[in-house]
Amino acid sequence: MNLEKRKVVIAGNWKMNKNLEETKSLLDEMVNAVPSDTKATVLLCVPAINIAAAVECVKGSNINIGAQNVHFEKSGAFTGEISTDMLKSYDVKYSIIGHSERRQYFGETDETVNKRAKACLDADICPIICVGENLEERESDITANVIKNQIEKDLAGFTAEEISRTIIAYEPIWAIGTGKTATARQAQEVCRFIRDTIAGLCNRETAESVTIQYGGSMNAKNAAELLSMPDIDGGLIGGASLKSADFRTIVSCVK
Ligand code: PGA
Repeated sequence: MNLEKRKVVIAGNWKMNKNLEETKSLLDEMVNAVPSDTKATVLLCVPAINIAAAVECVKGSNINIGAQNVHFEKSGAFTGEISTDMLKSYDVKYSIIGHSERRQYFGETDETVNKRAKACLDADICPIICVGENLEERESDITANVIKNQIEKDLAGFTAEEISRTIIAYEPIWAIGTGKTATARQAQEVCRFIRDTIAGLCNRETAESVTIQYGGSMNAKNAAELLSMPDIDGGLIGGASLKSADFRTIVSCVK
């Protein structure tokens, strides 16, 4: 991380976990656990149905509530989806876009990721755009091609100013929920490559300002090393964001 150059964002992704009561109780724990003087921007992305309650629970704290997905159309016949306007009415300022689980199970493509991210930017919501290779791609040594292709398609048509308002999460699919973390060197290498790809799309100055997170089995034990890398500006954390003590430890690595 480089706190002088970029915002460091520690984001939890609760995925499809926690009912209303559990959400309130875990958020109460989080509000007490997360240090009030942290230099990190702290964010918890909860299931859409719990956003309203979650926003109430964290009021007055330094925890932000984010969404896990949002649709690209403003309103209309899109059963099961939510709009940027709905998020804005709860003052939600971040949404994960194109998580690998959405790409794998719900037909999300780079084209729809691009449209969802654009809708976020138009509504002044920060999209956290997820990219990452699967195990086969890593083993065939095509990680760079896969990542370049995703970044170019996901950010297609964005101005430099728009790119500067996005967050990219590098999440190698083989590391998500598996307990297998990319080594700090592997993660740094791809995060640097993402920054260079962005510089190619717009300019170096913008690329240096973009927050790039690592995600995939980040936990209380490995976070310090990952976050010490110069191009890893935070984390997108699944499992460990469901335990307040672990999440606190991760946030505390940002100094
Ligand atoms: P994990 O999930 O930390 O449980 O591996 C990360 C993610 O999918 O965002």
